Amino acid sequence: MSESRLVIAIDGPSGGGKSTLTRLLAERLGYLPIDTGAMYRTLALAISRSGISPDDEGGVEQLCRKVEIRFLRDDGSYRVIADGEDVSQAIRTPEISMLTSRISAQRGVREILLKLQRELGKEGGVILEGRDIGTVVFPHAQVKFFLSATPRERGERRFLELLEKGSDATLEETIAAVIQRDEQDAARELAPLRKAADAVEIDSTGVTIEEVLSRMEQVVRERAKSFE
Ligand code: DC
Repeated sequence: MSESRLVIAIDGPSGGGKSTLTRLLAERLGYLPIDTGAMYRTLALAISRSGISPDDEGGVEQLCRKVEIRFLRDDGSYRVIADGEDVSQAIRTPEISMLTSRISAQRGVREILLKLQRELGKEGGVILEGRDIGTVVFPHAQVKFFLSATPRERGERRFLELLEKGSDATLEETIAAVIQRDEQDAARELAPLRKAADAVEIDSTGVTIEEVLSRMEQVVRERAKSFE
């Protein structure tokens, strides 16, 4: 298998650096980055706008089946398009984060996105980031990472992102929200947040992005050799 066709799975809790590292690693390798959290967020946004109760699993599933999600590359960044609308900003609010964590525990929602994610990744040459990529979506991915950091550091990173967007959330609130979401994501019955047994775990607390990126690139190149 050539180096350009591997499936790379990056899982971990929120704020563990997945998004940034996925994007940078994809650039280095010439891979397609796929943010599966953004897909769950897009469905959560559609639900919140529809007025359907998040507890109405049948109604939620019916609605989610109709939403068309696409990623569009624009000026080096990836935009999330739902039914033709750019929702990249709208899906990043604290309210949508919390709703996403809630609805992502539902079987119907997970089935829809599981199918789509497998379809997007089937040719290889992709990096999928999420919670269950190495355990459920692509259990045979050739390279798996699990990125973590302390809750405080992850909360601080999220807080800085929110601050940049003009949010008035406090640091303590953001850390508490990160912890609550991790607990929900790890405790759910279906595809919980969990490190795959064969994933390479990297704790990025106090480590620069560049250092983590180099480590990951080294792991990918080593692994690729064994598939040549
Ligand atoms: O990575 P993120 O913060 O954008 O993810 C938002 C939520 O989506 C997260 O709290 C849990 C859910 N999610 C999931 O259940 N499975 C994935 N593969 C990705 C995200």
